[in-house]
Amino acid sequence: MPVTIAPSILSADFADFGAECAALQAQGADWIHVDVMDGHFVPNITFGPQMCAALRPHIRGVMDVHLMIAPVDPYVAAFAATGADYLTAHLEAGPHIHRTLQAIRGAGCKAGVAINPGTGIEALAHLLDMVDLICVMTVNPGFGGQAFIPAMEAKIAGIRAMIGDRPIRLQVDGGVTVETAPVVARAGADVLVAGSALFKGGSVADPAPYGANLRALLAAAGR
Ligand code: DX5
Ligand code: ZN
Repeated sequence: MPVTIAPSILSADFADFGAECAALQAQGADWIHVDVMDGHFVPNITFGPQMCAALRPHIRGVMDVHLMIAPVDPYVAAFAATGADYLTAHLEAGPHIHRTLQAIRGAGCKAGVAINPGTGIEALAHLLDMVDLICVMTVNPGFGGQAFIPAMEAKIAGIRAMIGDRPIRLQVDGGVTVETAPVVARAGADVLVAGSALFKGGSVADPAPYGANLRALLAAAGR
């Protein structure tokens, strides 16, 4: 599977998301990663379904919504209705991740499961036939700009081995830079979320650095 870079709009100008999406896409991005935070599951608050619905017409490619919320089940229908392509819920968000993933697929979205740095991979074994994406958190979720946790390299490789030949995208989220992209790609990741490293030096007014950063990350990942 070729490597995809998914820019996280958590690093965008919060007053100008439409223009940021346009700039990212003009610079070659085909996924947009949307970090939904509730101030409860993670210590930060970002946006809800209304914001995702407003973003959708500005995203030509894949809208990848990462739900860092608990509980998650009461909100699956609302986020699915925004037109998200992927809805990713956390393994740790509640006792019934199996039901959550069923609900996501039932609502017509591709189902993702995210796993925090401190969580073991065994529980994923029982979910492999009901997910389209596994998101390995390589920082503790809540904020952009944190450092990659090196111990996650072995975890990515372990999950890659579990996936086998199933059609599951293996995503890495947090601390992806030109230094860490080769490490995670070698371990088996094929979707790299990038916030601060992708937006670095650019803006809506001067978007060329977005493209340069995107190409640098792809090259570092060996694509
Ligand atoms: C962290 C978010 C990430 C974050 C990545 O909770 O899920 O998507 O925006 O940002 P960087 O690339 O800056 O670590
Ligand atoms: Zn994320």
